[in-house]
Amino acid sequence: MIISIVSFRGGSGKSFFSLNLAHLLQSSGLNTMLIEADFLAPSYHYVSKVEGLTWNEFILGKSDKIIPSFTLNGVDIFCTKPNDHKMIRQIHNEQLWSTIISDQISWFLSKMEKKKDFILFDNQGGLFYSTLVHCFFSDFVICLLRPDYMDVRSTVTYLKALKRPFYLVWNSIIKWDDVSGVVDEWTKRYFSGMENYRGMLGKIPFDEESAYQKWIKGIIFPQGTKYEESIKMIVQQLVEMNEKKTNIST
Ligand SMILES: Nc1ncnc2c1ncn2[C@@H]1O[C@H](COP(=O)(O)OP(=O)(O)OP(=O)(O)O)[C@@H](O)[C@H]1O
Ligand SMILES: [Mg+2]
Repeated sequence: MIISIVSFRGGSGKSFFSLNLAHLLQSSGLNTMLIEADFLAPSYHYVSKVEGLTWNEFILGKSDKIIPSFTLNGVDIFCTKPNDHKMIRQIHNEQLWSTIISDQISWFLSKMEKKKDFILFDNQGGLFYSTLVHCFFSDFVICLLRPDYMDVRSTVTYLKALKRPFYLVWNSIIKWDDVSGVVDEWTKRYFSGMENYRGMLGKIPFDEESAYQKWIKGIIFPQGTKYEESIKMIVQQLVEMNEKKTNIST
């Protein structure tokens, strides 16, 4: 199953969520690959030393071998090289994304889809050709959003433009007790009527320790916390979807 993690705004917790999701999928026995498709504000290079290829190098066809940047707790990870100015210019080049890069991603997926149960693309916030292409190749997208009214309004427009089946995940910056009812109401009022809406996968609580980790010392998974519990519930739902998909195609 191929999934794109997206958000309209930056800093909504996509990368932290994607790493935790990949880690918990892998530890449930599902072969998982995580790809950082964020060319403007990458962060995975803080997590580990790069030993293989970066995603920018790979999609621009610098290698016909698939060698992940590094492996973390069994998860194969492709990270994006920071400050790649050539890539940053290329990000606005529609032709490049719809030809050479799409070809390379398509070839990559044809090889990896047989080997991996889950392939996750962690996209950059906002709408770029890069986001469109990665989402186009995904079965569906998971959109993260903070309980913030301005975020909600622009996210509705963003998801309409993206035109991909989407699931919502609310990621909190405050205690859920205070806003849980509000996000249920917003989900119903703004998203549930949308043609490409597939459901709400969960509400992730604020995790104080994670908030101050800031990546620099490498990633520490919040084990035994409410954060982990909420991701495990999302994992369960994804596993069920994957089983259904596999049963249909066999
Ligand atoms: N539920 C949470 N509780 C506490 N801290 C969180 C939570 N979700 C994310 N964070 C923290 O918020 C910061 C931003 O998160 P992250 O880098 O994952 O966002 P992003 O959406 O990937 O940002 P960008 O759009 O810049 O790529 C990180 O320091 C992360 O550890
Ligand atoms: Mg990120």
